Amino acid sequence: MVNITYREQDQLFHLTNGRISYVLQVQRGYLLHRYWGRAVRRLNENRPLYRYDAGFSPNPAPEDRTFSLDTLPREYPAMDNGDFREPAVCVENPDGNRVTRLTYLSYSIYDGKEPLEGLPATYVETPADAKTLVVVLQDSYTGLKAELSYTIWEKYDAICRSVRFYNGGERPLTVRRCSSASVDFADSDFDLLTLWGAHINERNMERRPLSHGISEIGSTRGASSHQFSPFIALLRPNVTEESGEVFAMSLVYSGSFAASAYVDQFQSTRLQIGLNTRDFSWRLEPKESFQTPECVMAYSAAGLDGMSQVYHKLYAEHLVRGEYKHKERPILINNWEATYFNFTEEKLLEIAACAKELGIELFVLDDGWFGRRWDDNDSLGDWVENLQKLPHGLKGLSQRVVDMGLRFGLWFEPEMVSVNSNLYREHPDWIVKVPGRHPSFGRNQLVLDLSREDVCDFIIEAVSRVLEDSNISYIKWDMNRHITEAGSALLPPERQGEVKHRYMLGLYHVMEVLTTRFPHVLFESCSGGGGRFDAGMLYYMPQTWTSDDTDAIARLKIQYGTSLVFPPVTMGSHVSAVPNHQLGRVTPLSTRGACAMSGNLGYELDITKMSDEELERVRTQVSIYKSIRPIVQFGEFHRLKSPFESDEAAWEFISPDGSAVVAMSFQILNHPAQCPATLYFTHLDPNADYRDEATGNIWGGDELMNAGIPLPRASSDFSSQMWVFTRV
Ligand code: DGJ
Repeated sequence: MVNITYREQDQLFHLTNGRISYVLQVQRGYLLHRYWGRAVRRLNENRPLYRYDAGFSPNPAPEDRTFSLDTLPREYPAMDNGDFREPAVCVENPDGNRVTRLTYLSYSIYDGKEPLEGLPATYVETPADAKTLVVVLQDSYTGLKAELSYTIWEKYDAICRSVRFYNGGERPLTVRRCSSASVDFADSDFDLLTLWGAHINERNMERRPLSHGISEIGSTRGASSHQFSPFIALLRPNVTEESGEVFAMSLVYSGSFAASAYVDQFQSTRLQIGLNTRDFSWRLEPKESFQTPECVMAYSAAGLDGMSQVYHKLYAEHLVRGEYKHKERPILINNWEATYFNFTEEKLLEIAACAKELGIELFVLDDGWFGRRWDDNDSLGDWVENLQKLPHGLKGLSQRVVDMGLRFGLWFEPEMVSVNSNLYREHPDWIVKVPGRHPSFGRNQLVLDLSREDVCDFIIEAVSRVLEDSNISYIKWDMNRHITEAGSALLPPERQGEVKHRYMLGLYHVMEVLTTRFPHVLFESCSGGGGRFDAGMLYYMPQTWTSDDTDAIARLKIQYGTSLVFPPVTMGSHVSAVPNHQLGRVTPLSTRGACAMSGNLGYELDITKMSDEELERVRTQVSIYKSIRPIVQFGEFHRLKSPFESDEAAWEFISPDGSAVVAMSFQILNHPAQCPATLYFTHLDPNADYRDEATGNIWGGDELMNAGIPLPRASSDFSSQMWVFTRV
């Protein structure tokens, strides 16, 4: 049972749910980290701290040269007080120095978990789901308070942390660094795991041994970015997919962030995640407070799979909200790769009619429907339909699509403005810019300044008007450039460092209002594909367009890497044309289907150009997907073979009640004279039997897991196989 205890005699806090423990302790006023890992019943009162008189490690009290902040395991280390490692917090004081000494003031424990003001965060359904400890630290010199919040979950091996700062002094302070979480480990016998990428190449797994000094990833782009996912993990070197200890941090935030592992001279490791300091500062006037984003720390003693199970289940149940949380997601057809900007109403209706015929459920009109948007140079911000392309307007088009028996969805890029737009001509001051400096362009567009209330109100009203006027049940919310020359016309000089975070707060506000106002609309977030695939966005929008790379083979790595943190139900995944538009690769329709069916299935090609035989195969895919959809979208996902390790990839989905199993396996390049491949399933019931629905063969769960299924020799590159098993 989830519990948080405080042991008065040695000021020790113990958070546990019977499977994991997290322990912190106050010693001489400082908050120390004592343990994070598999559950312990208690920590011995006399458990020693490793302390000695280390040269050049200062100590706060002259009488004890062994008590040094430089060597102790800290919970939330501040700056310039004898701890020379990476600080969790750095504050510029009114007199200009950056010395902060945070010591213990008080604590409280409560059932459940409070929301974070203005920010996305995991939430409880009932107070019994979790317990929260708040420890208040203060700097008695300036009056700064830091309220450290720790939530432990009953069902998930996760601790959620965040910090709220409060200026209890009489003069303004400037927060320059504020990690959401910081944990010290006694040793550095770890590998570091991060997810790096690029546009059309997101979330590649990278595992490397830790080394001395700082290993850091992050983004200063004003978006979590394609380049790094806001996630970091320490893995014991023996960690495999199914075994070994993993300590992970995932940030519930969509803007600039940093995550690091710092190994010091004593081989201890400090793991941190939070806002990126390079493009952030926050002025805290007396009596003002500042809330950091939330960090979700997952512990697994069962390897990477164990870690992913924690994130998948916690995020599916306690992060994603709204009507679609437990509702099957529609199979869609999107016109982007079919027509790009070059479409007519007639063409769209032709695609829609064909899609309906195949059993597809939702038609999505992508970029190009508004203003004078003939290419990507124009009209962002002018959210009025282009009547040359759509003579019956959006209203007419959406109604025609709905009359066919499909639902209608629409693309938007509300955070942006084109230079050539009425909006920019009317409001040149509404963009993020530094007066007098030339702004950089990305895709010929500028970023609206969402740190401004009037800009946020404009976006809310512009999107609302379109949603109210037409029959729309899905929105794809895109964002296609990063923030540069970060400045806001409304903020005073001392607050210009706040622009990027205020932008995120504005965006979250806009999304909160719109998703609340239109609860029946399914929102899919997108940023040039997976450039903002993060837990922050999922709080508002339950699915994300995983990548602009629709090549099935490239997607194996992208979806595999994404699945480390995010469940397949959150991943938009489409079958597209061959040769593939990003890579020119030709892959079989079956492989494109198996890959896309491993997430939220969609089609993104001109299906009116497909042969009858191909259409028949798409019809079959759609109908298979409908039958396995609850298993793929709401079952348990396990990775079986990694495309990062060989030319094979495989994964499985187990239905929530264990009665059905779906598996996909892929051969990337075919090799001559290769040894026979076997697919080993995991997490089945060893005592149950499973019927292969294609052949009628009955397999024991123990056989599928221990002896595996021998795979037939691949007959070509890029081949795939799919199984559906029913428990008998
Ligand atoms: C980037 C998205 O990721 C694509 O799917 C498409 O919507 C384009 N933008 C449209 O400009």
